[in-house]
Amino acid sequence: MKLLPVLAAAVLLTAACAQEKGPKTLVLYYSQTQTTKVVAEAIANSLGADIEAILPTVPYDGDFGATIARSQKEAAEGVLPELQPLSVDVKDYDVIFLGYPIWFGTYAPPVASLLNSVDLAGKKIVPFCTFGSGGLDTSVKDLQAKLPESEILPGYGVRQARIDAVPAEVDYFLKANGFLAGDFTPLADFSEAKPVTEEESAIFDAAVGTYPMLSAKAAEVASRAVPGGTEYLFTAQDTPRGPVAEDAPAHFIKVYVLAEDGKDPVFTQVLR
Ligand SMILES: Cc1cc2nc3c(=O)[nH]c(=O)nc-3n(C[C@H](O)[C@H](O)[C@H](O)COP(=O)(O)O)c2cc1C
Repeated sequence: MKLLPVLAAAVLLTAACAQEKGPKTLVLYYSQTQTTKVVAEAIANSLGADIEAILPTVPYDGDFGATIARSQKEAAEGVLPELQPLSVDVKDYDVIFLGYPIWFGTYAPPVASLLNSVDLAGKKIVPFCTFGSGGLDTSVKDLQAKLPESEILPGYGVRQARIDAVPAEVDYFLKANGFLAGDFTPLADFSEAKPVTEEESAIFDAAVGTYPMLSAKAAEVASRAVPGGTEYLFTAQDTPRGPVAEDAPAHFIKVYVLAEDGKDPVFTQVLR
């Protein structure tokens, strides 16, 4: 009687097919100076996902000043960079992790070019980005406006200065959002915000330090315990350097600060 082995093989085959039918995931990213690439590779390696770089036909290969000058000129002329063709077809994927550096508060222009050239309707999009000080929140709003027929899921952003934190933070992000199986300790909610004490104000000042794009005075703070320390969410009044009109309304920003035991506090993200 050879029926049993045949049945067993059929059951195994069905199980294998069912597994293959899970969502197909692509990590698609632009990275000018390879910072975002570090995050892209961490995500792709953890998920065993396909990975593809977005490549402008004429790369932005100048230094910081040259890149600012070129992109400001292109923006003034209403021009987006041309891209090399992708080697994958986004149609084949259900979930797309879309990565980019923040340029001028939003996703870098090569990503804007990409969004004009592919159809992402019906896809789940997971944004991730790297930045000097922040831009996840603003770029996600822009993605939502640009892709009304896609589902934009919660994203991940990290400062270029904190790139060493990527392996642990990406692992947490993937697990906490259900992309990766495995144990993780959910973070506590932030406490209610209250006016800062002198000590908290000093933590804010130490975290912000002399960062050139950030000049602000802490007003309120919420906090929560995180593994190895405390995370703060400051509301701070923007105090821009240089001349400001006397009747300009007060502008408040949110600044996340991480104070790990035995280390200097650092800011992790600014929401403007
Ligand atoms: C043209 C240009 C504009 C930028 N604008 C911002 C910005 O508005 N906010 C910010 O936090 N960082 C900004 N940055 C810093 C980049 O987001 C940051 O260096 C990023 O990690 C670079 O990623 P990459 O190495 O993958 O290209 C800008 C960088 C460039 C070159």
